[in-house]
Amino acid sequence: MAVILDGKGLAKKVLVDVKSRVESAGLCPGLAVVIVGDNAASRVYVNNKKKDCAECGIKSEEFALPADAGETQLLTLIAELNARADIHGILVQLPLPDGYSEEKVIQAISPEKDVDAFHMLNVGRVLTGDYSFLPCTPAGVMELLDHYNIDPKGKHCVVVGRSNIVGKPMAMMLLHRHATVTICHSRTVDLASFTQQADILVCAVGKIEMITADMVKPGAVVIDVGIHRKESGGLCGDVNYEDVCQKASFITPVPGGVGPMTRALLMRNTLAAAVSHKAN
Ligand code: GUN
Repeated sequence: MAVILDGKGLAKKVLVDVKSRVESAGLCPGLAVVIVGDNAASRVYVNNKKKDCAECGIKSEEFALPADAGETQLLTLIAELNARADIHGILVQLPLPDGYSEEKVIQAISPEKDVDAFHMLNVGRVLTGDYSFLPCTPAGVMELLDHYNIDPKGKHCVVVGRSNIVGKPMAMMLLHRHATVTICHSRTVDLASFTQQADILVCAVGKIEMITADMVKPGAVVIDVGIHRKESGGLCGDVNYEDVCQKASFITPVPGGVGPMTRALLMRNTLAAAVSHKAN
C-alpha cells in the first residue's frame, strides 16, 4: 500500500511560511485575479486562490469581465494592472472564452508580474534554469517530492502530457534535477510500455482514471495532476487511485494532492514578486 503524498498538509505549511515572510518583511503583496466569463470550474479555482491570499496576508483584487467584454478590454485592463505599483502579481484564469487569444493575453502580462510563469520570457527562463518564477503546478510537484525526500536524480521520470502549463515545464524541472525524462502524449504508441518503466510517473493528461495498475511499475512514485468530477459526484484524477495505490510506493490523492500545492506555490510566487518589486 502506497504512502500518501499529503499535498493539502504541505500546502498549509507553505501558506504559514509565506504569511510569516510577508509579516517579517513588512510587505503588502497584491495579486490581481482576472476571470472572464462564467466557467464554473474557473469560478471555484478563483475563489480558492482568493481564500489562500487572505490566509497568508496577500491582498487579492478580483476583476470579473463578462464573456463578451472582448480582447481589447481585457488587454486594457492588463495594461492598467501592469502599471499599478500596489499589484505585484497578475493572474488571468484560463481557459478564456472563445474569441480571446490566450497567447496574446498571456504575453501582455508584465513578466515581472507573471506569477503563473506562462509568459514566453519566464518559459525560456525555466528552460535555462535561470528563473524568477516557476510554473505553480510543476513547482508544487517538486516541492512535494522534496518534502518526502524523493530525489529524481538518476531516476527514470515519465511525464504523460505535454501542455505548456504542466507537462513541458515539469519535464524540464525534473531534467534540471538530473532525472532521465520521457515525455508521452496522446499520440504516443503503446503508452503502457513507457509508463511501466517509470520510477516517477507524472500524469497530466486530463483523462479520467486512465492510468491503471497494469501501467505502473511496482514501487513507482505516482503523481496525479488531473482533476475530474465523477458522474457519482466525487472528484478523481487521471489515475485510478484505488487500483494504483496497491502497487505504487508513493501516490498523490485527488483531491488533496497536487491541487493545493499549485495554489500554495502561487502564493509563494506572489511573495517573490513583491520582494523583488521592493528591491528594485
Ligand atoms: N487554469 C487551470 N490551471 C491554471 C493555472 O495554473 N493558472 C491559470 N491562470 N489558469 C489556470
